[in-house]
Amino acid sequence: MITLEKLTKVYGHGASAVTVLDDLDFSVAPGEIFAVVGPSGAGKSTLAQCVNLLERPTSGSVIVNGENLTELNEADLRTARRRIGTVFQSDGLFSRRTAAQNIALPLGYLGVTKVESKKRVAELLDRVGLSSRADYYPHQLSGGQRQRVGIARALALRPAVLLSDEATSGLDPESTASITALL
Ligand SMILES: Nc1ncnc2c1ncn2[C@@H]1O[C@H](COP(=O)(O)OP(=O)(O)OP(=O)(O)O)[C@@H](O)[C@H]1O
Ligand SMILES: [Mg+2]
Repeated sequence: MITLEKLTKVYGHGASAVTVLDDLDFSVAPGEIFAVVGPSGAGKSTLAQCVNLLERPTSGSVIVNGENLTELNEADLRTARRRIGTVFQSDGLFSRRTAAQNIALPLGYLGVTKVESKKRVAELLDRVGLSSRADYYPHQLSGGQRQRVGIARALALRPAVLLSDEATSGLDPESTASITALL
């Protein structure tokens, strides 16, 4: 469950201040797929970043599964973020790591054992249909395949919430359909 209360985000100060999110209130129920639609510059990415607090809201609350993220200190926030998977607008993969290594990253941060991590990564690669591409580097993958790796990485820690910021931008209709089905 995600609840936003009076969420406001202002970039800049004084005369150059721009209000991107203006007093938003809404909830997303468990199991619900909630889409935010708007033109370029409308604030969709800003909203996604405020929901996992990669950007700090100027005011208002972000409550995820009963926890008010805006009140947490950095350490507690890091823990809370593990329950929120994020697929970024540009895939955000590390170019010097293979698909499998990119997916394994969040598991490594958590100190999951090598054996467990290998098993989970294999499951995730299978889930996104990329078992045969485990050892490919991002530049050896198509845009749609890179997005699939991004989705697998976002799912690695079995998050309760999945945020997806235009996971299909720049993809052809067929890839778009298959990514949407995967999500
Ligand atoms: N770090 C920042 N500092 C200042 N302004 C910013 C910052 N990030 C975004 N903005 C501004 O906030 C507005 C919303 O940007 P945002 O990236 O959220 O739009 P978007 O809806 O995701 O657009 P797109 O569809 O092009 O991805 C834009 O006008 C942008 O210039
Ligand atoms: Mg955006």
